[in-house]
Amino acid sequence: MNTGDSIIARPAALADAIPIYTLIRQHQDELIVRPMSDVIMNIDRFHVCEDGGRIVACAAWQILPEVGDPSKASVEIQSVAVCASCRRQHIGTRMVRAVLARVEAFAPTQAIVLTFAPEFFRTLGFHEVPKTSLMHKIYMGCINCTKYSNPFTCPEIAMALDLHGPRTRAAVSAAAPAPEVRES
Ligand SMILES: CC(C)(COP(=O)(O)OP(=O)(O)OC[C@H]1O[C@@H](n2cnc3c(N)ncnc32)[C@H](O)[C@@H]1OP(=O)(O)O)[C@@H](O)C(=O)NCCC(=O)NCCS
Repeated sequence: MNTGDSIIARPAALADAIPIYTLIRQHQDELIVRPMSDVIMNIDRFHVCEDGGRIVACAAWQILPEVGDPSKASVEIQSVAVCASCRRQHIGTRMVRAVLARVEAFAPTQAIVLTFAPEFFRTLGFHEVPKTSLMHKIYMGCINCTKYSNPFTCPEIAMALDLHGPRTRAAVSAAAPAPEVRES
């Protein structure tokens, strides 16, 4: 059991690519496995948590365009994983918050996620939405899915967090505190 004292949250570096790739592969039931080349090409979109030199968590993001209205783009939260021995220490919370803080500068309309962990994302202010409201995600990602034949019947739950609403900042910062995780 980790005490959390030595855990640091930070943007990923290229040297983290192999542990990120491995961590995602260890959660293939819950996450879309990403080829190493994909991890490397998108390393600037990953955040990690490191514990004594070991990567114990990661999260990433991608902008999804809204056709015809660039200012209405969404950000998708992707590849959120915390190693099994480090769970329920608010490390996942810190990872998602780090991603949301990173994309804030772009002022996306909303953050979205397709997930098997709705309870976790609910604590961050996300709420369930119909998949039909996420057609940009369906066309950008789900259409190439190798796990499920139909995005509308796939068991993942679609969730969204309004990033323009007045309650957003409060919802994100009011999520479970994570005092034991230091930012580098
Ligand atoms: C989902 C996941 C990222 C959560 O990481 P974590 O660090 O354990 O989560 P946190 O400690 O930040 O949890 C914050 C809150 O979310 C809720 N929560 C987290 N995991 C939960 C679970 N398995 N069941 C119910 N609620 C959960 C709890 O309310 C928790 O607060 P609490 O521990 O004070 O009660 C982690 O379980 C994981 O890596 N799962 C496998 C991969 C996955 O499903 N990723 C999400 C898909 S995008």
